[in-house]
Amino acid sequence: MRYIYLTLIATTALLIAQNSENNSSYGKKVFETYCWGCHHQTSEAFGPSFEEIASKRSKEEIFAMISNPQEVSKIFGYKRNAMPAFNLNQKELEAIANYILSFKPDTNSSKSK
Ligand code: HEC
Repeated sequence: MRYIYLTLIATTALLIAQNSENNSSYGKKVFETYCWGCHHQTSEAFGPSFEEIASKRSKEEIFAMISNPQEVSKIFGYKRNAMPAFNLNQKELEAIANYILSFKPDTNSSKSK
């Protein structure tokens, strides 16, 4: 009984790890939950497209913008800040940043969007 229980825990942990590391569908889910109203993948919406963001920002800059848009939008040169702050956990931050960066134009030209 104890062995079955441990195996279950190990399997669950493995599934979670796989999911957060290389499964971009989790990043897509975060995008659809929090960002989709204002950002689109390749076209400009209320905010810039992910393609544009990916072409000029690092992962750290994306983390910073999500957590503190009021300050970071100024640093990025915006005159006004229209993006609200999001309190995402580390897993969500990683997933959404990787998702945005997957739209970087030159390294991703052959992948489907
Ligand atoms: C209410 C609309 C809105 C939502 C929702 C929103 N954004 Fe934004 N975002 C903006 C706007 C508008 C800007 C342009 C700067 C500003 O006004 O603050 C922006 C800018 C950004 C930038 C910086 C752009 C640059 O110059 O590099 C990043 C990164 C970003 N958003 C990521 C996200 C992510 C990730 C989410 C979801 C977790 C999200 N945004 C949700 C409106 C939004």
